[in-house]
Amino acid sequence: MSKVIVLASGKGGTGKSTVTVGLAVQLAKLNKRVLLVDCDSGMRGLDIMLGVENDLVYDVSDAASGGCDTEAAIYSAQSMYGLYLMPAPLSAEDEVSPSVMKDLIDSVKDNYDYVLIDSPAGTGSGFDAAAAAADEALIVVNPEPTSVRGALNIRLKLSKIGKEDARLVINRFSLKRFKEMGIYKDLDAVIDACQTQLIGIIPDDPKIAAIAQRGEAGTREPKSAITFKNIAARLEGENVMIAKKALGIK
Ligand SMILES: Nc1ncnc2c1ncn2[C@@H]1O[C@H](COP(=O)(O)OP(=O)(O)OP(=O)(O)O)[C@@H](O)[C@H]1O
Ligand SMILES: [Mg+2]
Repeated sequence: MSKVIVLASGKGGTGKSTVTVGLAVQLAKLNKRVLLVDCDSGMRGLDIMLGVENDLVYDVSDAASGGCDTEAAIYSAQSMYGLYLMPAPLSAEDEVSPSVMKDLIDSVKDNYDYVLIDSPAGTGSGFDAAAAAADEALIVVNPEPTSVRGALNIRLKLSKIGKEDARLVINRFSLKRFKEMGIYKDLDAVIDACQTQLIGIIPDDPKIAAIAQRGEAGTREPKSAITFKNIAARLEGENVMIAKKALGIK
């Protein structure tokens, strides 16, 4: 059975799209078939991160309106076997409604082991569409108060729509900055404030950003990719320790 997971955050720019791609690559490396669905209508970016932006003809709104077969709006990532993308529309006006998005994802999900849905920031209509088909959520947060508040909002919104299966990804962690900020006693305080169980911590690493933005995910891998690999393993039900070295924690 496929796992359908939405990646969400209250605040923008926490790293949802970067984490979606980093995690998808590691799942594909475990020989999983992975479909990424970009729900950020008008601000799509996963096509660039997967290096397929020049291949796109159709997007999710074409598939939803019957303008093309659903399969025609799904593109294979050249750089990574087993990884596929259904792109968001270029224009925000073409955003797909939650019920239509759910039907669309339900109609294809059995062809994949994982469907990762990249939500736009916030709790608006784009989030509603992204969350509609999901059975689980990964809430992506940066360890700072404004981001934490957004994560808690998302958690509460997910509960409101009956989606209790949510886990937390702390992204862009830097021990030095965390200590300098001095707001939280430790990472447990961040996790408690988000009221969400932790699934993984990703370091703040310019290499993660560069590889994703260059569309090289799957072909190049920074050392810190171990942290994405660990999240993939945990989704597969394995018990994996936190990669302290990659996070600079003793
Ligand atoms: N672990 C990381 N280390 C360093 N930079 C990162 C990391 N994760 C994301 N970034 C950078 O942070 C910025 C925001 O990332 P990204 O676009 O993935 O966020 P987002 O949550 O999808 O944003 P939006 O809310 O606009 O959709 C980008 O410049 C990205 O390269
Ligand atoms: Mg994004």
